[in-house]
Amino acid sequence: MGLLLGKQIASRGGWEVIWMECLQIESLVPELNPKAGQSHPIMIVASDQQKYFLKRQMVRFENKKNNAAIWINENAVFFQESLVSQIARRLKIPTPETAIIHIDKLTLKAMTELQFKYHISEGYYFATKMISDNDSDVTRLANNLLLERKAKIPYAANQWNALMKKIINTDDIPKIIGLDLFTLNYDRFSNIGNVLLQKAGINRYLIAIDFGHCFASPCWADPNSPADYTKKLEILHQNLIDFSKPIEVRMLAHNIVFQYNVLEGNNRIYLGLIFDSLVKLLDFTAGNPFTDIVDAIESISDPELVAMLQATPDEWIITPGTQQQEYKEFLLRQRFMVRPIINELADAKQFPTIHGREELSWPTELNTNIQ
Ligand SMILES: Nc1ncnc2c1ncn2[C@@H]1O[C@H](COP(=O)(O)OP(=O)(O)O)[C@@H](O)[C@H]1O
Ligand SMILES: [Mg+2]
Repeated sequence: MGLLLGKQIASRGGWEVIWMECLQIESLVPELNPKAGQSHPIMIVASDQQKYFLKRQMVRFENKKNNAAIWINENAVFFQESLVSQIARRLKIPTPETAIIHIDKLTLKAMTELQFKYHISEGYYFATKMISDNDSDVTRLANNLLLERKAKIPYAANQWNALMKKIINTDDIPKIIGLDLFTLNYDRFSNIGNVLLQKAGINRYLIAIDFGHCFASPCWADPNSPADYTKKLEILHQNLIDFSKPIEVRMLAHNIVFQYNVLEGNNRIYLGLIFDSLVKLLDFTAGNPFTDIVDAIESISDPELVAMLQATPDEWIITPGTQQQEYKEFLLRQRFMVRPIINELADAKQFPTIHGREELSWPTELNTNIQ
């Protein structure tokens, strides 16, 4: 961790990796802890006097039968947050600034609730800088909308749509969707907690947060058996296909879309309220809004991913060497799955005004550099 003193910019062959700042906790702000989310990040003031949300990998679940607490070590959360927030930055996707928070013995001694209330032990934690002026109507109106189906709340859909129409950075919507397909993030399209709408006067600025559940799960190793990462490998190896065979590419894209489907027992594909609401804001009549982001994702290089992985603290890696290699190889292959998945989504009529892949135009020069 010696390198992580302050913000350093490592320039490796023309691009820049911004190392995360390593900070300590100055105080806790429990009254601002979020209610939403599963891991319940805690709000802190860090040694730079800024407010951060500190994430935890030990997540509390409840045994429904006897209400007993079960703690699960979601052991890939910090690693995935670090890697994907760097990819997001590379793709110019709005996401909070990140930091590493070092919690040492002295901090634990001075703030006893860290250990006793939040089950935090010594080590390095991932944190994101607080986005202020975050519109809390997102949760309220989305909940109204979900209740509407049962309780018939008048205007719920109108209010939700009016909120969505306030989003000004609609150019970022295809980017966020592209990133989520690239990193197999199944935790945004149907989860209202993983986008923020920052107030900008009467407008709203869409920000993507929470990459902890990317790559289809928050774990690298089985939480009960740290040497066993076979489940994750199965996920990361799903795209070990022959990219010169269109049928293989199409079958995988189809399967991935199917994984995103949250409607059960129905022939219709539905990716969730967030996906549905965001794509409604895209204008397909002016061309394919995904061409630029697909181009950008396809151009991410092997050395760039290596540099991003090197900027991730060793403490967050369980199987050194293999773990970085497997994520890197997955991403290098997955670059060329984003376009086929978007085509599949077009066939599944997930985009307004588009009735199938033939209506989505792609510049021909894209996707010619499959390795
Ligand atoms: N940087 C941030 N700025 C503002 N609010 C945040 C930020 N990070 C998290 N939150 C709030 O905390 C909630 C949970 O955080 P998240 O990163 O999604 O963790 P998890 O879902 O694993 O519990 C979010 O839904 C949001 O309300
Ligand atoms: Mg979340």
